[in-house]
Amino acid sequence: MSGQGDPTEILAAARARMAAGGFDLRRAFADDPGRAGRLSVAAAGLHADFSKNLLDDGALAALVGAAQAAGLPEARRALFAGEVVNASEGRAALHPALRADPPPPWAARTLERMAAIATDWRGRVRHVVHIGIGGSALGPRLVCEALRPHADGPRARFAQSPDPQDLSEALEGCAPDATAFIVASKSFTTPEALSVARAARAWGPSAPVVAATGNADATRALGIAPDDILDIPAGVGGRFSLWGAVGLPVMAQNGPGAFADLLAGARAMDAHFLAAPLAANAPALLGLLSVWYRSAWGRGAAACFPYAHGLRALPAYLQQLMMESCGKAAGARGPTAPVVFGAPGPDAQHAIGQWLHQSPDWAPADFIVVADALAALPAAALAQAQGLMEGYAADDPARACPGGRPSTTIVLPRLDAFHLGALLALYEHAVFTASVVWGVNAFDQWGVELGKRLTGPVEAALSGGSTGGLDASTAALVKVVRDARH
Ligand code: F6P
Repeated sequence: MSGQGDPTEILAAARARMAAGGFDLRRAFADDPGRAGRLSVAAAGLHADFSKNLLDDGALAALVGAAQAAGLPEARRALFAGEVVNASEGRAALHPALRADPPPPWAARTLERMAAIATDWRGRVRHVVHIGIGGSALGPRLVCEALRPHADGPRARFAQSPDPQDLSEALEGCAPDATAFIVASKSFTTPEALSVARAARAWGPSAPVVAATGNADATRALGIAPDDILDIPAGVGGRFSLWGAVGLPVMAQNGPGAFADLLAGARAMDAHFLAAPLAANAPALLGLLSVWYRSAWGRGAAACFPYAHGLRALPAYLQQLMMESCGKAAGARGPTAPVVFGAPGPDAQHAIGQWLHQSPDWAPADFIVVADALAALPAAALAQAQGLMEGYAADDPARACPGGRPSTTIVLPRLDAFHLGALLALYEHAVFTASVVWGVNAFDQWGVELGKRLTGPVEAALSGGSTGGLDASTAALVKVVRDARH
C-alpha cells in the first residue's frame, strides 16, 4: 500500500460529503452540459460512458486516491511483469502473457499446436463438443456464442453439467465420425468434467479428443495421447484461461485468424490499462465503481445487461469473474464482491426491470450495447439507463419511479472478435482493480474446494453407504432422497 490512508475510508468520506451536499444525478447533468463527454473513456475501440454514475469531481478524485492508497499502479506493474500476485498459491497470473505480441515461447508453442488441431478439425469434423465447467467453459462458451454468426468451421457445442441431459443435448445432430471433443480441465480432477468426458468417450470411442489441462498425467485414464494434450500453465487461472488452450473451440469454430483478433483486442485493452491515467482508465474506473457502490454505498448486488443475443452468456461469465475473484474475506478491507446478476437486456426488462426501477433497494447496472445491432436493441438499452437516471414523477405512488439510479454504458461498435476480446479484458482488469482496493487475492479460489471435499461422502451415503459421518440435517436429507429414488 502506498501509505496515503485507508482506501475504503477515503471512499466513505467522499460518500458522506456527497450526501451532505445533496448530490443529484439529474442536476449534475443540468449543471454540467459537458458531463457525458467528460466522464466517458474511449479504450481499445470501446466507448465506456461512466457519466450516469453517482460521481462528482470530488468522488472521482477519491476513487483515484483510493486506488493510489491501495497501491494499484504497483500491483498492475507486478501483474504484467509476471511476478507472484497470487500469494496463497505462490503464483503469477499469466493471462496477459497469453495475449502478448510476441507471446512468450511457452504460449507460442500452445498457439501453434492449437492452430494445427483447429485446422485439421476444420477440414474433417462438423461439431466440436467442449467439455468443462466454471472458467474452463464460461469464457469459450461466451466467445463461441458471440462469434457464431461468423463461424466458418465446426460448430462448438458445450457440455458442462454431469446431468446426462446436458451432453445429450450437446450431441443432438452430432455423428461420432464427424465430432471432436475437447476436455478442458486445468486440474483434471473436477468430477463434473470427468464424468461428462467418460460419457463422451463411450458415445464416440474413435472420435478425436484433445485435453486442455495442467495435469497431463491424469489424462491417461481417458486414453488421451500425449500429442493430444494442450498445456494450461499453473499461472493461468481457470476463469482467466480463455486466451490459451481453453480457447481451442473458438479457434476451431471461427479460425486461427479470429482467435488472433480476440487476443489483439484484449492486448489493446491491456495497453490502455497500463498507460491511461487512472481518472481516464476504463478498467480502473469500472473496477473502482464496483468498490464505490459496494464499500461506500453499501450496495450488495450489481447487474449486467448485454443487449445482444450473442452476449447472453456474459452475465454468467461476469458472475464467476467477480464473485470467484473477489468473494473472499482473507485480507479484505470490509465487504467485497457484490452478487452479480443479469440477463440479456430485452429479457431483463420483462423480468428484472420492475425491481430496477421501483424497488426501495437498488443496484448499479452495466449496459452492454452493440452499435451496429438491430436499432431496437441499443435504443432499449439507452432508454433503460435514461429511465434509471430520470425516474418518473407521478401522483400515484404505484406509478412513480424514483430515478437517480446509476449505470455505466459500454458500447462496442460491432460484436466481432477484436471488440469482444477488448470487452473481456476490460472486465478482467476491472475485477483485478477492485481486488487490489478491497485487499483480496483475485487469483485463488479456495472456497470452491469445500464443496468438492464434501460431495464424496454425501454421494457415497446416497448410494447406500453410511450416513454416520454426516450432520443430522444432511443425513436426514440423504434418507429422504434415497427413499424417493427407490
Ligand atoms: O469453479 C472453481 C474452479 O476451480 C474454477 O476456477 C475453474 O475454472 C473450474 O473450477 C474448473 O476447474 P478445472 O479447470 O480444474 O476443471
